[in-house]
Parts: sequence; C-alpha cells; structure tokens
Amino acid sequence: MYVCICKGITDQQIKTSIAQGAGCMRDLYKEYALGSQCGKCVCTAKQLLNSEKQAC
Ligand code: FES
Repeated sequence: MYVCICKGITDQQIKTSIAQGAGCMRDLYKEYALGSQCGKCVCTAKQLLNSEKQAC
C-alpha cells in the first residue's frame, strides 16, 4: 500500500527503514523526503512508526 503518493513510498519501504533504525519522522524525511509535498502521508507514517517500534 502506498503511504506517500507524492513520492511513491510504500508501507513496506517504511517498515524496512524502521527495522534498519529509522526512529522518527525526521529519519523518514531524510531518506525519502516523506511529507515534503502535500503532507497527507505524515499521519499514516507516524502510526506506522508507533506500531512498528512497539513490535521491536
Ligand atoms: Fe506524502 Fe503528499 S502524500 S507528501
């Protein structure tokens, strides 16, 4: 599923980044420029960050 349509970023890409150490939105922004256009993906990305961090 696409989380960020503007940049074409999927939930799998974000989950992989989290597994490799991304811990906050700043990390995802640095890697993908996530949220740099319309910003609609930020909420979903934050939810993914929270749920994946709890899974670690
Ligand atoms: Fe991510 Fe627009 S959907 S910046």
